[in-house]
Amino acid sequence: MNLLIQNGTIVTAETQFIGDLLCRDGVIVEIGRNLTYRGEAELVDATGKYIFPGFIDPHVHIYLPFMGTFAKDDYVSGSKAALMGGTTTLIEMCCPSRSDDPREAIRLWKSKAAGISSCDYTFHMGVTRFDEGTADALRAIVAEEGITSFKVFLAYKGAFGIEDTELYQTLSLARELGVVVTAHCENADLVAATQKRLVAEGKTGPEWHEPSRPIAVETEGCHHLMTFAEMTGAEVYVVHTSCIPAVEAVIAARKRGVKAWIETVAPYLTLDSSYAELPDFEGAKYVMSPPIRSKDHGDFLWACLANGTVDTVGTDHAPFDFATQKHMGHPQNPVDASFRPTGKPGDFTFIPNGIPSVEERVKLLYTEGVCRGRIDLQALVRIASTNAAKIFGLYPRKGAIEVGSDADLVIWDPQWSGQISATTHSMATDYSAFEGREIQGRAEVVTVRGKVMVRAGGWVGETGWGSFIHRTPNI
Ligand code: URP
Ligand code: ZN
Ligand code: ZN
Repeated sequence: MNLLIQNGTIVTAETQFIGDLLCRDGVIVEIGRNLTYRGEAELVDATGKYIFPGFIDPHVHIYLPFMGTFAKDDYVSGSKAALMGGTTTLIEMCCPSRSDDPREAIRLWKSKAAGISSCDYTFHMGVTRFDEGTADALRAIVAEEGITSFKVFLAYKGAFGIEDTELYQTLSLARELGVVVTAHCENADLVAATQKRLVAEGKTGPEWHEPSRPIAVETEGCHHLMTFAEMTGAEVYVVHTSCIPAVEAVIAARKRGVKAWIETVAPYLTLDSSYAELPDFEGAKYVMSPPIRSKDHGDFLWACLANGTVDTVGTDHAPFDFATQKHMGHPQNPVDASFRPTGKPGDFTFIPNGIPSVEERVKLLYTEGVCRGRIDLQALVRIASTNAAKIFGLYPRKGAIEVGSDADLVIWDPQWSGQISATTHSMATDYSAFEGREIQGRAEVVTVRGKVMVRAGGWVGETGWGSFIHRTPNI
């Protein structure tokens, strides 16, 4: 398969220039002006368009057994939605329960994607227990399964959450193996105590989700992780950072020599806490953890993306239907009265946490970030592609436009304008958290290893074209 993309503005994390790209056998083989190809090649005219390296979402959930239900997408819908939005590589959280065997878990998660993912993918290995067999299992997962990043949850005690001794062991092993540890930083005990108090006070609607996990809880989680990283020398990556003090806790640790990366996610940049206060249970659509904060925190995060303090923007795509799954936390729970063994009325603690957004991330970053002058095009590429590739061992195969890089490319039409709607999105959920949002620019053509998956903004892809990306540690 040969592909010749002509006369576009090639945008990388460092620069931009007008040029052509020739791709052969799935990789970029030439970059220049007025390139020609003798023989058969698919031609794409990119005049007036940007050519970005394929975007990478470093934090998604596709197969996710969580809070008594399962996330709605599978790899057919999730990877198609990713590509329609310009994301060509997904890094999914493999989230076993505490009782699961880690090796069986990673094989299960791989099996959910194999043969049906349209985009490329890899996983962060969730460490949800650390006992006498765990170190050997994790060593094998790194050496044999091609996984070089772990995931720990300081939140969700009783489900994915780990104890401090387990955190220490995980970070120590990661340091030895040269593996990055990604972490959900919220103090689980504080969340549980605050949830209990609020519900006892009759504060049960979705608007109480944010007060149940206040900024202090997330900040403590970040500080906690930073202390453990400092003590073990492990490299850490804070996922879905939502607020100013959490970022500041990581900045303080960096000054002490801790190697720490910061991720934020699209909902924190483009929504605010008022959405969870919408009447008639609409607020449940916006329940995720950590919660979406007030607008000043979003503004701060944008500034941190522009100045390089925050490294990446993911989605934390965790899709649950509104009419059924989110309603598990409705006071009358019209959907499934049998769900709560206690027989008590529903409250916000039963609303599955998460927002579907894998399809919208780049559109939102372009519209709300580039078009509003908050970030430039180089920052867009850095935060939505290149940095994730570098941190997670995919670079320069992914996240770059260089000779030898995979021909994962996004030809972006900056003139296109339209609206987001659940009626037209490719995600499996029955709602969009961004319904009616005006959007500027879209992925016009998207390629994965040289194969055109999206053309004229429409799906032409091949289900199953995606491959697992085998990674090796940095040491
Ligand atoms: O609300 C969230 N973030 N749901 C997905 C699970 C997680 O914490 O990443
Ligand atoms: Zn999380
Ligand atoms: Zn997540």
